[in-house]
Amino acid sequence: MVWTSRDFLLGVHLIAAIMWVGGVAFIGWAVYPASQFMPPLERRQFFRSLMQWSHRPLAAASAVVIATGIWLGTAAGPINRWADVWQTAYGRVWLTALLTGIATLAWGMFVGYRKAMTVFSNEYLWRQANGGDDAPLKKAMTSIIAVQSVEAAGFVVLIVCMLLLS
Ligand code: HEM
Repeated sequence: MVWTSRDFLLGVHLIAAIMWVGGVAFIGWAVYPASQFMPPLERRQFFRSLMQWSHRPLAAASAVVIATGIWLGTAAGPINRWADVWQTAYGRVWLTALLTGIATLAWGMFVGYRKAMTVFSNEYLWRQANGGDDAPLKKAMTSIIAVQSVEAAGFVVLIVCMLLLS
């Protein structure tokens, strides 16, 4: 079997997509629930470090997904002119994926990350929880989950688009 540059590009696209979607999902379904067993002040420090460390690699992975997705659809795919984007089913699904990918990346970087860092930077909230009154912290964490669920909805749309493209 001969590997083409398109196969290589598809491989990079898939690895970056696994890192992006898998990374965000792993924090949501494994790290977050497991952290509930930590004392509040330790949890705050842990999450601040986790978010600061994972923010750039996740943003880089999503940029690679989008860039390779553009390439796979155009230079290495069936979209050869602007009209193909509007006039073919492939082009319309690809455009939906492109816009959803950019919106999901922007949401994660500028809304999700900032919202989480605002909560993790609010020392009073965490000291209050450490002192036994954890209701305000629970409310703040629920608002983070609500904001992050927009990113999860973006992933669902993207995966449906990929099923339609293949
Ligand atoms: C959640 C993010 C994404 C995931 C998990 C994902 C996953 C995949 C998978 C599994 C394939 C292989 C399909 C196959 O050939 O059987 C694929 C192909 C492709 N993806 Fe994505 N993708 C994502 C985001 C994007 C975005 C944002 C774009 C557009 C900029 C895009 C454009 C493409 C294109 C053009 C192909 C080639 C389809 C073809 O002609 O066969 N993808 N993607």
